[in-house]
Amino acid sequence: MRRLNRRDFIGTTGMGGVLASAMPSDLFLTVFGKGRAIGYEELDPRNASNFIHPLRLPSDNGLLAMLRPSGNVTLTAKEVTFEPFPGTTTKLWAYEAVEGGRTYQNPILMLNKGQRFDATLRNELSEMTIIHWHGLIVDWKNDGHPSYAIEPGGSYQYGYTVANRAGTYWYHPHSHGSTGKQVNAGLASLFLVDDEAELSLRNALDLSIGTTDIPLIIQDKRFSDGAFTYDPADSDLVAGFIGDVMLTNLTVNPVMDVSSRVYRFRVLNGSNSRTYRLAVSRGSERIPFHVIGADGGLLDQPYQVDEVFLAAAERVDLLLDLRRFQAGDTLFLQSIYFDAMHNEHGGHGDVPQNTSLAEGAPFYILKLNVTRSTSYDREIPRRLSEISPADMRGASTRPFSFVAPDFIHDADTKWRINGWTFNMDEYPVSLKKNTVEIWEMNNDQGSMPHPMHIHGFQFRVLERLRSPDQIRPLAVDANGLLPTDMGWKDTVSVWPGETVRVAVDFSHSFSGEQTYLYHCHILEHADLGMMINYKIIT
Ligand code: C2O
Ligand code: CU
Ligand code: CU
Repeated sequence: MRRLNRRDFIGTTGMGGVLASAMPSDLFLTVFGKGRAIGYEELDPRNASNFIHPLRLPSDNGLLAMLRPSGNVTLTAKEVTFEPFPGTTTKLWAYEAVEGGRTYQNPILMLNKGQRFDATLRNELSEMTIIHWHGLIVDWKNDGHPSYAIEPGGSYQYGYTVANRAGTYWYHPHSHGSTGKQVNAGLASLFLVDDEAELSLRNALDLSIGTTDIPLIIQDKRFSDGAFTYDPADSDLVAGFIGDVMLTNLTVNPVMDVSSRVYRFRVLNGSNSRTYRLAVSRGSERIPFHVIGADGGLLDQPYQVDEVFLAAAERVDLLLDLRRFQAGDTLFLQSIYFDAMHNEHGGHGDVPQNTSLAEGAPFYILKLNVTRSTSYDREIPRRLSEISPADMRGASTRPFSFVAPDFIHDADTKWRINGWTFNMDEYPVSLKKNTVEIWEMNNDQGSMPHPMHIHGFQFRVLERLRSPDQIRPLAVDANGLLPTDMGWKDTVSVWPGETVRVAVDFSHSFSGEQTYLYHCHILEHADLGMMINYKIIT
């Protein structure tokens, strides 16, 4: 495999990387686009008055445009330029598609359940890559296993039938050792699946995608020399790469105009590592909202909440009722303070997060300006979709544990799963097709939260045990489950000291042995080997 060339991304000075590890907040005295120097104080998401850039909404061409594939779609992974906010340009790695005379970058792919999807990945990057369709139930040749990564200039053909129920899925690179770099550079977008339950919700609430049903891809980045920088220090590999500039739909510090009606936000945490504690506020007043969906689509019913945690790679589907607001009111979607529980130093002193915006610190994400009153009389349905209970007959339990590496004494940066580190040709777990297993994920107390992701199947969360103080009060049932645990999941955050038990039904219709991945979705952890192959045998 070719070594990654840092210069490909950072630019020509090579300086950015060095400084990035030292003192990120000083780096914003750099030149964007038209030669104007922009200091960090203009980008700081803790300052509400910085939220002045119109949110990029999915349209019918350009970055994050909606694309309903009819035939084969060619997605070319390449470097492009884009505007993180109006009047500035910077580099981005994106999937580009040219369809019907329009150019799409990181298109939001929109398909129906049961539809055939064919796509060609063309690699115009200077390093290996492969696409993984996160959350989609596909055979492993379509799953973007890193052993299928293609060389620069190469291509890879995908073709499958969309088997998933409606939901907010996504796609991103999965080349081993460089996923964090490539996602951070921009390669990621949504894969929205429709079905009848989904369409009836949109009808009931008069929602339309891009106007009142808004996909939000939330990402934190570091900037230097007018580009996103990715040069994690060893401590960033252990603690996860945390940025200090917030982008939503690749817009820095965005604002969106809204009217006094119900809005839907389908939020993807597309960050490399950061967890968000999402809340909506007007001034100091907390505005309740409804959680209606998670990774694998709609829940059975809406859950009214004041906040929701969203770890890397998780999705949450929200309804926000703005009927009681008037033109002139201003609200914020924000991440409120939480204890990020970075206990991985084991009492040997902190593993530093090289950012001025530490994980768990409060900041704003999206400003909502109520600009219009409108009459809206739809009611939020009490039933959203059918969620069948997990069928546990004959299920056996498979335990996994996550223990921190000794970074301070041994300079060990590798998190492991049951002591295993990723090896392309090793299969620490094999199991028989069509069996149900309980995967019991035990996170050590001297650890940090790990959003654990299983490829190939959606699962159900059964139980959370020993959840930390900031999680336990959010539970909505006797098993300690959170609202986002009430539906289908592919990624579940396991907090320090916590045990999370999930039920996975390893039934599918693919023939022959299949190799999938189980890994932490903190991309620095996965890239360093907090990932295993698991094999489905027939
Ligand atoms: Cu979203 Cu294996 O990843
Ligand atoms: Cu995945
Ligand atoms: Cu992890």
